[in-house]
Amino acid sequence: METMIPWVKLGRATLPDGSWLELRQHGNEFVIAADGYDLMVSRVHASEVEMVTLACAKLPPDARILVGGLGMGYTLRAALDAAPPGGRVIVAELLAEVVEWNEGPLGELTDYPLRDPRTEVALGDVGAVIRANPATFDAILLDVDNGPDSLVQPANRWLYTRTGLAAIRAALRPKGTLAVWSVVENASFEPRLRTAGFKPSTHRIRAHGTRALVFLGRT
Ligand SMILES: C[S@@+](CC[C@H](N)C(=O)[O-])C[C@H]1O[C@@H](n2cnc3c(N)ncnc32)[C@H](O)[C@@H]1O
Repeated sequence: METMIPWVKLGRATLPDGSWLELRQHGNEFVIAADGYDLMVSRVHASEVEMVTLACAKLPPDARILVGGLGMGYTLRAALDAAPPGGRVIVAELLAEVVEWNEGPLGELTDYPLRDPRTEVALGDVGAVIRANPATFDAILLDVDNGPDSLVQPANRWLYTRTGLAAIRAALRPKGTLAVWSVVENASFEPRLRTAGFKPSTHRIRAHGTRALVFLGRT
């Protein structure tokens, strides 16, 4: 007889706007749920890895990569795998609880990327890291929302505006790349990237149960 595996709530975190994220486990599967929907499911992560492959093909020996946000750590793990030994990966994460979940039960999924000496955690808004670090990064990998117009919290809107994209461009080194993950089509985002001075392209990812888009902007 098949045993029913229960869903277990492992933790809950509140975003600055009052909405919440919750970590749940079901056997060896994990979900990060947001108010009313599943933000991330542990077995579906091919597009997070593909985003890094697209954005980090050519990195210098001292590469600096900014990942926003941490989630289940798949983008961070892929960025570390792409980064050279002398590189650094800064991961900006809004919620201390998400960092704790990755130090704890989620860590096994991605072989504990927070323990890699090349990882630096910036606890807080990825926008603040962008504004504080001009001409710093070779790649900026943004997966903080469901897409440029489908936000986890309203404050993230700035990132995808003309001002936000100009600040991102200013935070990139020459030949740098911005990658933005999205689950929804967005015909206006490539033109927005072009207006901000990027060479844009859109990549549709259909692999291992994933349907997602990655917008790239090269400086
Ligand atoms: C979809 S998950 C990221 C998934 C991640 N790419 C992975 O591979 O698991 C979104 C994450 O971004 C964080 N986040 C949302 N807005 C943020 C912001 N403005 N700055 C930093 N982190 C943010 C959330 O708390 C959440 O952990």
